[in-house]
Formats: sequence, structure tokens, C-alpha cells
Amino acid sequence: MTSIRRHLLMGLLGALTVSGLVAAAGVYLQARDEVNALFDYQLQQIALALRDHTTTALVVASTAQSNAEQEVVIQIWDAAGLHLYHSHPGLPFLPQTTAGLTTVATPYGTWRVFSLRGVGYDHVIQVAQPMYVRQAMAAGMATRTLLPWLATMPLLGGMIWWLVGRGLQPLIDVAQAVSQRHPQALEPLPTTGLPQEVQPLITSLNGLLQRLAAALAAQRAFIADAAHALRTPLTAVHLQTQIVARTSEEEARQQAIAALQQGVQRSTHLVQQLLTLARLDPEAAHPPLMPMALNPLLHAVIAEHAPLAAEKALDLGLARDDPACLAGDADNLRILFGNLIENAIRYTPVGGIVDVRITSTPDAIHVEVADTGPGIPPEDRARVFDRFYRRGGTGVPGNGLGLAIVHTIATRHHAQMTLGERDSGSGLVVRLTFPRA
Ligand SMILES: Nc1ncnc2c1ncn2[C@@H]1O[C@H](COP(=O)(O)OP(=O)(O)OP(=O)(O)O)[C@@H](O)[C@H]1O
Ligand SMILES: [Mg+2]
Repeated sequence: MTSIRRHLLMGLLGALTVSGLVAAAGVYLQARDEVNALFDYQLQQIALALRDHTTTALVVASTAQSNAEQEVVIQIWDAAGLHLYHSHPGLPFLPQTTAGLTTVATPYGTWRVFSLRGVGYDHVIQVAQPMYVRQAMAAGMATRTLLPWLATMPLLGGMIWWLVGRGLQPLIDVAQAVSQRHPQALEPLPTTGLPQEVQPLITSLNGLLQRLAAALAAQRAFIADAAHALRTPLTAVHLQTQIVARTSEEEARQQAIAALQQGVQRSTHLVQQLLTLARLDPEAAHPPLMPMALNPLLHAVIAEHAPLAAEKALDLGLARDDPACLAGDADNLRILFGNLIENAIRYTPVGGIVDVRITSTPDAIHVEVADTGPGIPPEDRARVFDRFYRRGGTGVPGNGLGLAIVHTIATRHHAQMTLGERDSGSGLVVRLTFPRA
């Protein structure tokens, strides 16, 4: 598991180490330049001192002594090129260089050399120093800069650990507050005194809790409504069974059995609608929408409802049938159009007309179900999509779930749905607009 604390500790210490190393490199480069300038000056001074003293050997001895740890090597040649003096007999003679300061690569490393000719007697005085002495000195300075800083690392690490822990405390407090909550406690978490960074988390958590509370309330209301709706036909069924059991008269018995059958049918219809709604729950997994032709599906739904329409002498048919393809779920679309056509048939008085129209345009497919019934007044058009909402005075039995199911399926198909009236101003026209596949 990743840890913000460990991550920050490692990140900050890493960044500090890198910056420390960069600073040390800077110190090294600067120290190297300064040490170079200083030692170059020293090499020159030694050579000049040697040239200007008559008692050469004495000076050489003392100078060589004092410069032992700086490894300054002194060589003197006479005018004929014969070796007169070498301060470090153990070392081979360096070759003679041109007059002045030069840097020479030799088999014993790189050396800085100052060469000078004596005045009057043509001695060649050469004072040399290996470059590694200077590099070691500059590196020593850089290390001495870095060391105290390195020594404070554990302290720094401890401070970062503690500070980050303190900074994260509000998150731990929030987690604790959430974990100690009762599952039913959906009131918002307090946001006062929270650091700016934690505030968005709590705000969105509170938003989620609010939506959860609303969803739970809606679900409770739905279960209560469903139970209420189921109780009516079931009570009727219960009564009819008692009548059937008690009545010996054949005609009354037949009537009771017919009523019983109707009650069972109504209950079955309601349970089916409830199952459909549960299946259409936005949270549930749905099969993907597949490209499909709408025309055969609507032909089938219309044919299925033809007997019901015939019972009421209604003229049910397809008034327009443009070829139409869309991305859809055939089972659900069958339920959608079935509900719309069933409503149209049930609410339209005997002898009326129910027209279905499929219109195809370049960017959409429109399906219209129009009837010559009482229609729905504009002020009620938004409410009829609510679950269990029914308009009174129609004299038609129902559960008030048909249009809620239609609306849910239409939404899943990204279809727009409007209710209107026919051009004559009467009847109901349900218009669905599907985006093209
Ligand atoms: N074609 C229509 N003409 C007039 N009113 C309609 C029409 N379709 C629906 N309505 C009104 O809208 C209300 C809701 O319709 P919905 O289909 O949701 O439920 P229902 O038909 O009452 O019951 P069911 O759940 O059995 O379909 C109905 O009660 C009815 O008043
Ligand atoms: Mg209905």
C-alpha cells in the first residue's frame, strides 16, 4: 500500500540530497579555481625566490621542507642541461617545459609546472606540483560543506515525518468519523475547521451522502407504493376465493371465478411491471445497445395489440413507415412501444383512431403514437411519468407505472420524449426522438 507520509519523506529527502550534491559540486568548482590561482602564485614565488638567492641550496632546502605536504617538486638544470638539483630524488626528472606556467601530462599524472631561467647564469628552475593535490584540496572543501548538512539528515527526516503526520491528521480524523458512523446516519459530515485540501473531499463525500439519502428515501417510497398497489388486487383475490368457497349457486360462482381471474391478472401485471423497473435500474448491468431495424419491431407490437384494438373497434395502424435503424435494446423497446400503444388503446373511446408514425430524418428517428382519446392537459404532462401517478376520472384501471417504464427505457436510449396533442387540439400524441445509430 502506498503511504503519503513515506512518499513525502522519501521525495523531500531525495530532493534535499540532490540540492546538497549540486551545492557541493558548486563549492568544489569554485574552490578548484581559487586553489589553482593560489598555488600557481605560490609556484611562481618559489621559483623567483630560488632565482634571486645566491645561496640557492639553502633556500631550496628550506622551501622544499615547507612545501613537503603540498608536494612541490623543484628541479634545477644548468646552462648545459645537466641536472643540478632535484628536491625529490625518488621521482624521475620531469621534462623541461616552456617558460612560464604549463600543465603537463606525464606517466605520473598531470602536473602544473612553472619554469624560469636564471639571470646571468642560465640555470633553468622548474617548480612543479601534481594536480591531484589541488583536486584533493577542493574536494576536501566541498566535503566539509556537505558533511554538517548530511549530519542533520536524520533530524530533518524526523521533522518531515512528524510534520507530514500532523498535516495528515485531519484525514485520519475524517476516516475515523466515517468508520464510527451508523449505516443509517446519512447526515453530512462537519466541514468546519478542516484544512483547505481536505475540504473538497468532504464536500464530495457529503454530496454522495445526500444523493444516497435521496435514493434510499425514493426506494423506501417506491416499496411502500408497490406494497400498497399490490395489496388492492390481492385483497380482492382473497375475497373472491372466499366467495367461491362459500357459494353453492353456479352463476354466482362463475362470476366470482371471473373476478378472481381478473384480480390474479392485475397482480401478475403489476409484479411484471415492478420486475421491469427493477431490471431497468440505472445501477444494474445492462446489455449494450445494438444496431437494429425499428420497423419490424413496431409491426410486431402493433400486430400483438390488434385484437385489443379490435375489441374497441379502434383503427390501429402504421400511418408512416420510413425505414429506421438505431442503436437499441429490442426487448426494452418492445416494452416501451407496447406500453404506449396499450395506453392509447385503453384511454381512447370506442371507434377512435390510433396512428403510429416512423419518420426518418438525416440526424434522428422520430416515432409518434397519436390517439383520439381525452389527451393529457399540459399541467399534468410532467407528472404522468412519475411512478404510481394516475390521473383520475378515466375509468380505466391501471397501476400508474406504464409511462414511468417508458421514460426509463427512453432515457437509456438517449431518446427525447414529449407529450402533445393532435393538430385538431384533441387526443394525445407521444413523440420520441432517437439519435441515429
Ligand atoms: N393515451 C393516453 N390518453 C390519455 N391519458 C393517458 C394516456 N396514456 C396515459 N395517460 C394518463 O397517464 C397516466 C399514467 O399512465 P401510465 O401508463 O403510467 O399508467 P396507467 O396506464 O394508469 O397504468 P399502467 O401502469 O397499468 O400502465 C394514466 O393514468 C392516464 O391518466
Ligand atoms: Mg398505462
